[in-house]
Amino acid sequence: MRFDIVTIFPEMFNGPFSSSIIKRAVDDGKIEISLHNLRQWARDKHHVTDDYPFGGGPGMVMKVGPIAEAVDDLRGRFEGSVVALMTPQGEPLTHGMAKTLSSLPGLIILCGRYEGVDERVRSNYCDMEISIGDYVLTGGEIPAMALVDTVARLVPGVVGDIQSTVEESHSGYLLEYPQYTRPADYKELKTPEVLLSGDHAKIERWRRDQSILRTARRRPDLLEKAGLTDEEKQKLKQTMDKEDIRANG
Ligand SMILES: C[S@@+](CC[C@H](N)C(=O)[O-])C[C@H]1O[C@@H](n2cnc3c(N)ncnc32)[C@H](O)[C@@H]1O
Repeated sequence: MRFDIVTIFPEMFNGPFSSSIIKRAVDDGKIEISLHNLRQWARDKHHVTDDYPFGGGPGMVMKVGPIAEAVDDLRGRFEGSVVALMTPQGEPLTHGMAKTLSSLPGLIILCGRYEGVDERVRSNYCDMEISIGDYVLTGGEIPAMALVDTVARLVPGVVGDIQSTVEESHSGYLLEYPQYTRPADYKELKTPEVLLSGDHAKIERWRRDQSILRTARRRPDLLEKAGLTDEEKQKLKQTMDKEDIRANG
């Protein structure tokens, strides 16, 4: 899969993409990441990419022309790529969305700055708008990094042990179970006995129970979609009832 990132600050991406799993995936040819300076598509002498908003108001707005030319150029060169605009007004980025995007041949990612982009970019030059959360960053570069990282790790072959992307938080509407590693005891802090037992069936059951409990406590909104069995629902209710009794005396 290829990622084409259009930005006025390409140098921001050097650090995050030059180490660990993403670097290895690029080196191994599993993914390709190309950074494009938007200014190359700005036709005027000073390569201007922003201007004052019509109607007045604070800040600057990114011009439609350079972005439109960038999209036409990259779409022409990389057939099948989907154009995504990073914006706090977009569809929230989720594991499900990342999974769908990971099967595309390519993603062209547009990074906004200032007050955002001219509305004609939204309505004519992008296929989707993506938000990384209900807060506003100064630019689309960090959101683009988050998008590339989360999509790339779901591309087959990028994460060595594929099972780790199957069992993790959000892959099946349950948060992941608690994890421990050596030493088994750190000062008075102990690892649950079951994880040291070597009994794989018991460990599996414990992990699933912990995932359910953790999701119920932290993200009850996810639980409805998680497909719990009647037995699991009953067990969860009993555990939560016991906790209530303890908390309320
Ligand atoms: C300061 S923001 C502009 C926000 C815009 N004035 C608004 O209220 O929607 C500048 C750029 O940062 C990026 N950005 C900021 N927050 C974002 C978020 N939560 N998700 C995705 N992109 C974001 C977008 O590319 C946006 O064009």
